[in-house]
Amino acid sequence: MGIGSEAAAAKLVATCLVGGAVILVGVCCFYYSSSSMGEGDGLLWERWKQKLLLKKKKKKKKPIRVYMDGCFDMMHYGHCNALRQARALGDELFVGVVSDAEIIANKGPPVTPLHERLIMVNAVKWVDEVIPDAPYAITHDFMMKLFNDYNIDYIIHGDDPCVLPDGTDAYALAKKAGRYKQIKRTEGVSSTDIVGRMLLCLRERSSAADNPNPKHSSLQRQFSHGHSHKFDEDGAAPGTGGGTTRISHFLPTSRRIVQFSNGRGPGPDARIVYIDGAFDLFHAGHVEILRIARDLGDFLLVGIHTDQTVSATRGAHRPIMNLHERSLSVLACRYVDEVIIGAPWEVSKDMVTTFNISLVVHGTIAENHDFEKEQSNPYAVPISMGIFKILESPLDITTTTIIRRILSNHEAYQKRNEKKGASEKRYYEDKTHVTGD
Ligand SMILES: *[C@@H]1O[C@H](CO)[C@@H](O)[C@H](O)[C@H]1NC(C)=O
Repeated sequence: MGIGSEAAAAKLVATCLVGGAVILVGVCCFYYSSSSMGEGDGLLWERWKQKLLLKKKKKKKKPIRVYMDGCFDMMHYGHCNALRQARALGDELFVGVVSDAEIIANKGPPVTPLHERLIMVNAVKWVDEVIPDAPYAITHDFMMKLFNDYNIDYIIHGDDPCVLPDGTDAYALAKKAGRYKQIKRTEGVSSTDIVGRMLLCLRERSSAADNPNPKHSSLQRQFSHGHSHKFDEDGAAPGTGGGTTRISHFLPTSRRIVQFSNGRGPGPDARIVYIDGAFDLFHAGHVEILRIARDLGDFLLVGIHTDQTVSATRGAHRPIMNLHERSLSVLACRYVDEVIIGAPWEVSKDMVTTFNISLVVHGTIAENHDFEKEQSNPYAVPISMGIFKILESPLDITTTTIIRRILSNHEAYQKRNEKKGASEKRYYEDKTHVTGD
């Protein structure tokens, strides 16, 4: 107690000293300016006082805490962009992730279980804290909990309408309380669109049901077993026939890439770790391997393979997400420092030198394991230099896992998709110029 009051006294003295100095400087300035400019004393004094008050206010300002919620099922860079915009409306972003039970009750089973969705949301670099048991719609009780227990200032949501089953606005309560803010929907991507890209093959198969075509059953086999090179030899690339589902409205701009970037290079003595891959349908398995890779150095450089490279190694229907979409998803991850948008398949000596790479890593759970058998191993150079390391992947998930999960439920999704697809089509038909970030 004695120490406490002593410290307090010291603080008071310090405050008085600083305050005195400020007043002294203030008086000098006041004297100087009033003598040189001859302005009215009162006016200048008022201005000075206002300036001081303003400074005080700025210093004491408590951080604005904003809240956004969602299912974050099949998370994509559109979700990340929404979180980025939400974060920009405050100083701290809390994110509510809807539980599996609530999603099942409101729109059917999620593709991604809660623990994976939590990994994904936690890894987004604009997220400060995650609330793992958010309700599907904000109830009065939950809103009070947000305001009183979590000290949330504003609830944020996109400008797409969010209607409850009973036809009411899910954010009506927050709007009424004057604590609602809106952000722009990210153009060009939606889960519906992504599922559509995957379901295209199955649609082609079902439309040919009257006239059974062995090629179409091979399409299904392709998806259910992952690798069937027969499909590739057929050359029946999805998207080339009847491709009404595979629409991507995404137009990458340089500004979006900048918004997602850290805008920093490695420090002078940074140990640079390199990892490459397709990073298609960015998932919790990717996040976990990136986290471990980042721990091995000071700067994580991620090489994203081109669409051509991915198609050549995994089949014509891959990647589901194009190079720029994949780059944005990886860039939004907090463990990533920089990406190479279109990395070569082979890690060359020149690359290692140019980027000063200290270590090249690769996860045990990956789809391109064939490289070990190939005569031209893409990691031959780092292996020969003794800077190659295989990392134990914490999660047993690949892009194929995600595709399989979606397709195992595909009928339910297709129904949902058609309904949602129609409303999205309306959105794009009705849409006019969109401003905002
Ligand atoms: C290259 O990386 C090493 C760490 O592995 C670091 O010590 C060195 O300073 C880096 N070189 C340059 C030129 O940044």
